[in-house]
Amino acid sequence: MTDTATQFLPPSAYFDADWYEREQLELFSCTWRYAGTTDDLKSPSAYRAVQVGRHPLVVVRGKDGELRAFHNVCRHRGTAVLSGSGVVEKQIVCPYHNWTYGLDGCLLAVTQRNEVDPNLDRSKLGLHQASVAVWRGLVFVHPDPAPEPLTDWLADLPDRMAPYDPQQLAEFGEPQRYHIKANWKVFMENALDNYHLGYVHKETLVGYDHKRQEQAACGDRHWFFYEPPLKPGQLTPMEAEAGLKPIATEPRWYGSAFGLIFPNLFVLSSAVWWSSIEVIPTGPETTTFEMRTRFQPGQNGKLAVAGLKAAVGDLTRRVLRKERTYDLIEEDVFCCEAVQVGIRSPRFSVGPIAYRYERGIQAFQRNVLDYVPLETGR
Ligand code: FES
Ligand SMILES: [Fe+2]
Repeated sequence: MTDTATQFLPPSAYFDADWYEREQLELFSCTWRYAGTTDDLKSPSAYRAVQVGRHPLVVVRGKDGELRAFHNVCRHRGTAVLSGSGVVEKQIVCPYHNWTYGLDGCLLAVTQRNEVDPNLDRSKLGLHQASVAVWRGLVFVHPDPAPEPLTDWLADLPDRMAPYDPQQLAEFGEPQRYHIKANWKVFMENALDNYHLGYVHKETLVGYDHKRQEQAACGDRHWFFYEPPLKPGQLTPMEAEAGLKPIATEPRWYGSAFGLIFPNLFVLSSAVWWSSIEVIPTGPETTTFEMRTRFQPGQNGKLAVAGLKAAVGDLTRRVLRKERTYDLIEEDVFCCEAVQVGIRSPRFSVGPIAYRYERGIQAFQRNVLDYVPLETGR
C-alpha cells in the first residue's frame, strides 16, 4: 500500500465474520475501553460489567472509594460474577456455587471447601486483575493489568479539547441509543468524513464554517476535528434559539469539536454542551451507538433536554417550523446504512477521495490495520 491509496481496508473488513472476530480479539481486547462515567460508579460498592473485546470485565468502587477492575470470570467454573450494573451487597458472591470475593477481587470463601480441596490456597484464586483509569470523569478499563498508561495512550488529545470538566456539568435525560445496520467502521468513517457536511447536513449544520475546519492526528492513534461558527465567538443560530447557558468562556471553544479516542469513542463539545458517543460493534453488519450529553448546571433541565432533542446539539438538532423535520443523526444513519449496502456489492471499490476532508478516514484505517493486519489471501 502507498500513501496514494484511497482505501486501506478490504471490503470484507466491513462484513466478514472472521474479520469481525479478529477485531474483537486483536483490537478491542487490546485497547482502553470506555466503561461509563464516574457518576455511574459514584457510591461505594457500585459496579459496572463491561465487555472489552472478548474479555468480560467488571469495574467496582471499593468501600475505600477506589475504582478497581477485574476479569468478570469466576475462578471456579468461569461464571460472570456480576452482570449489568448496580451496587454489590457486602461481597461479590458468584451466582453459581456461591464462592465469595471481596471488592478488591480477593477470594474470601469457598462453599463446602473440604469437598473442593481442604488445602486450597485462596490467595492464588482471586479474580484476575484488569486496569482502570479516569480521564475527565470518563472511566476506561483495559484487560491487561499493566497496560500503557491512559494518559500516554491519549497523547495530546486532552490538550486540544475544550477544557470543560464534565464532572462539573449536568447530564439531563437518558442516554440516547441507536441501532444501525452497518459495520461499526462505516459509522466511524462517516464521523471522520468532513466532505459530506455541507451536503447531507445542509439543513442541520447551518451556522458552521465548513471551509475553515481544522483536523489533526493526536499521537499515533487519535484524531481531532474542529469547525468554527460562521460568526466567530458566537453561538450558532440554533444554539442561541435553544437558550442554553454557555459553558465556554473563550471564543475559541465556540463552534463544534470532536476527539476520536481510538478505536470507538468520540468526545464532542460546543459552546453549550459536552457529549460522548460510544460506538459498539454488535455484529459484522450491525452497530449500536450511545450518546450522552451534559450541559451547564443551574438551568432548566427540561429546557436542556428539549434543546438536545429538538433544537441544539448539532448532532440531534431538528429544524422545526419548516415543512420538513431534519435530524442530523438520522441523516448520518441513512448514509451509513446506504454505504453498507454498496460495500456488499462485488462491484464495490473506493474511487478518488477528497484528501483534505477524508484523511481522517485513512488514518483510522491504518490504525485498524496495525491491530488487525491483512492476512495472506485476503
Ligand atoms: S462458577 Fe463461580 S462458584 Fe462455581
Ligand atoms: Fe454526518
